[in-house]
Amino acid sequence: MEKHKSKKTLGIIIDVLMYTILLVQMIYVFTGNIVHEILGIGFFICLAGHIVIKRKQLASLFRFGKKPASRQFSDIVMILLLLAIIVLMVSSMGVSRTIFPWFRYAGSVDLHVYLATAVLALSVVHGGMHGYIRTKKKKRAAVLIAIGFAAAIAVGLALVPYLNRHFKVVKINYSEAVSGEKADWNGNKPLVVYFTRVGNTDFEADVDAVSGASLMLADDELIGNTQLIAAMINDALDCDVKAITLTGKKYPSSYGDTVSAAGKELKNNDRPEIEKIDVSGYDTVILVYPLWWGTVPMPAATFLEGNDFTGKKLYLIAAQGSSGYGSSIEDIKTMANGAEVQEAMSIYCDDIPASRQDIGDWLKKISE
Ligand SMILES: Cc1cc2nc3c(=O)[nH]c(=O)nc-3n(C[C@H](O)[C@H](O)[C@H](O)COP(=O)(O)O)c2cc1C
Repeated sequence: MEKHKSKKTLGIIIDVLMYTILLVQMIYVFTGNIVHEILGIGFFICLAGHIVIKRKQLASLFRFGKKPASRQFSDIVMILLLLAIIVLMVSSMGVSRTIFPWFRYAGSVDLHVYLATAVLALSVVHGGMHGYIRTKKKKRAAVLIAIGFAAAIAVGLALVPYLNRHFKVVKINYSEAVSGEKADWNGNKPLVVYFTRVGNTDFEADVDAVSGASLMLADDELIGNTQLIAAMINDALDCDVKAITLTGKKYPSSYGDTVSAAGKELKNNDRPEIEKIDVSGYDTVILVYPLWWGTVPMPAATFLEGNDFTGKKLYLIAAQGSSGYGSSIEDIKTMANGAEVQEAMSIYCDDIPASRQDIGDWLKKISE
């Protein structure tokens, strides 16, 4: 009896721990990578304990007699949950940067986030079904399960991206991120033009004051994602690099306000004024831009429309938070008069600090 009681208590502790870990994993932005990876391993250790304690329930999956509908539903949820957890385990190692750095082929951040969301939502239903089967108040239990399921999906698909956008600060070592193999270029070297928030935003002087604004710090200096990509190209080719710089009103320091301001600019089809960039001495231009509202930021549109690209190749590198190129390529084709527009790369913002090798390989390919 005593043994049964302590097993039950241990089971409850492990379950609470697992739900807590899953939720804490969702606020990755605040815990940081190493804590996230250690907690991930902790989750799978708890899972092993959970399976040992609840092994009878797991075995009941393979008892094929007639079962009530609620049991059948519970079984389906358990199977889906097990599958999602197994794939999550593989994908977690794939995106690991510290503990499993050699296991990269399963490394999709998007897949990892979707799987984690599925595991959280299915865990809520899995736990809720225990209560549903036991309680007499079935309707109330079903409503609570549905609310829990919807809340878990909202946490994974809305809260996590929101926190990432607004609070993430990535710290990098500038020379490590930028330096790599050099690439040869046949003929007139390209001009790299980039647009980024840094330099075009009224950030407060104190970096700590803006650390809640989805930014990158290179050796404690603010740096934009596209600026880093431009620096990587410069390291590989030793070519000219120019920043698109607003001459008028800058963007607000808050990320959310910048998103609103950029949305208004797009709606009004504004062309904010910028310092003149002359591309006439170049045969090739590489434009590095962040995707804003699924297209190119309006200051980059000013740059494109303010130049004659006749006879020039225009390569496009987009930095983005999940939307690929959006409609930017088609839009740029209508803006860059005469250009031979070539899509080059669309890089997910988290992958940018580690993209020097890919950029070098791409430059070698196009300069052949
Ligand atoms: C105003 C604004 C709008 C954005 N819109 C999108 C979008 O539609 N799709 C997307 O994947 N990312 C979007 N993002 C995320 C940026 O493309 C991404 O964070 C990029 O790496 C930022 O580059 P930067 O640091 O050089 O400015 C947006 C960011 C901002 C500031």
